[in-house]
Amino acid sequence: MSGTRGKFNSRIGFILAAAGSAVGLGNIWGFPTQAAENGGAAFVVMYLLLAFCLAYPAFMAELIIGRHGQANAVESLKKISTNNVQRKFAFVVGFGGILCAGLLMSFYAIVAGWMVAFTIEPITTVVGADSASTWLTTHGTQRNLLFTLIFTALTIFIISRGVENGIERWSKRLMPALVVLLVSLAIYVLTLEGATDGLKAYLIPDTSRLLEPELIVSALGQAFFSLSLGTSVIIIYGSYVGKNENLVSLGASVTLIDVFIAFLAGLLIVPAMYVAQAQGVEIFRDGVLLSGDTLVLTVLPALFDTMGNGGIIVSFAFFLLLSIASLTSSISMLEAPVSYTVERFGVGRNKATLIMGAIIFTVSCIIIFNFSSLFGFVISLTTEYGQPIIGMLCCIFVGWIWQRSSLLNELKNGNEQIEYSLFWKIWPWYTKLVCPVAIALVFINSL
Ligand code: PFF
Repeated sequence: MSGTRGKFNSRIGFILAAAGSAVGLGNIWGFPTQAAENGGAAFVVMYLLLAFCLAYPAFMAELIIGRHGQANAVESLKKISTNNVQRKFAFVVGFGGILCAGLLMSFYAIVAGWMVAFTIEPITTVVGADSASTWLTTHGTQRNLLFTLIFTALTIFIISRGVENGIERWSKRLMPALVVLLVSLAIYVLTLEGATDGLKAYLIPDTSRLLEPELIVSALGQAFFSLSLGTSVIIIYGSYVGKNENLVSLGASVTLIDVFIAFLAGLLIVPAMYVAQAQGVEIFRDGVLLSGDTLVLTVLPALFDTMGNGGIIVSFAFFLLLSIASLTSSISMLEAPVSYTVERFGVGRNKATLIMGAIIFTVSCIIIFNFSSLFGFVISLTTEYGQPIIGMLCCIFVGWIWQRSSLLNELKNGNEQIEYSLFWKIWPWYTKLVCPVAIALVFINSL
């Protein structure tokens, strides 16, 4: 193990960093699109239910493992283990999570790169560089390579600065900026013609759809992706939390922020779709919603175009928002392998960040060169298989392997009275039984 470990310097620093990891393309792109595809408000209701009843308990499991271990995911899980078999299992789960985070970043950086390209496009349009604008918004290998590189380099820069000066400082800057942008855009879109229809679709549930199996599976998958579960990221962020902090309320704050931002993004995107439709942009074909990337990369820019000069500013703000949200998520993904490399091999932080960043960028390049066969494959490998399985295994670790008294002692740090709380009465059983079964169901369904 090398020198002193980083640590979040303030409570708010941790909350914003973990919320930064949680809030990303999943909230601003994934959640509204899935809501629109799955019956609007019915999906929203189910999502809220599952986020609080299942994703929050699983989030707590990972957070507590990390705070207890005060080390990377592999070491933290090993500290709970009491025999050799368990320690091997700890390695598989911890390392699997780190691998999953790295792979996730390799495709996330490509999509985030598109967001950066779309942020620059309004500027090239204003200065009249039309061919540059077309290049920036057209799918192509060169564009993808360049913007993935730019985005990965930004992530490397922040992570190399460490926990306090990198992750914490930048999350504190970027997260409030994101909320301000999101609220302003939502208010603006809600004033436009057609927005009320979108608002109705988003807020008035069609209760007959509430229990559709597909809707439930999508909502649970979305909740797990959104809270960054099953990637060892929450374990490592938990390990940077001081022993005097109340984990139950920290976890609840992050979950609330994550859900709130997804809800807010829905208030922007779903009405925006209906505004676009009112202006003649096609969003449904044969009654079915056009797919997710068409929605964000085609429908919304088409909407911005209809707004004249104001649209250029709105477009810039919207894609800047998506770029910022992606950045606070990707820094958490990179931190997972970096912290492991630093602690396991005693490599300096800068060197470890560069090495891991370079490996991940190489994988991104392989995906870009084999886009049609690898892009969708890596996404489903990580989000449909990797995350649910590792999330489930973490719950099994806490529920079945960690001794109850030791778990309670860990939770008592920063929360002396926890033993008598509702949380302690419900959560251990939930994590032991309900979470693994529910996650297993989602996983089996995704097969
Ligand atoms: N939670 C992020 C989002 O909603 O976009 C995605 C994510 C970040 C997944 C970090 C996993 C992770 F480790």
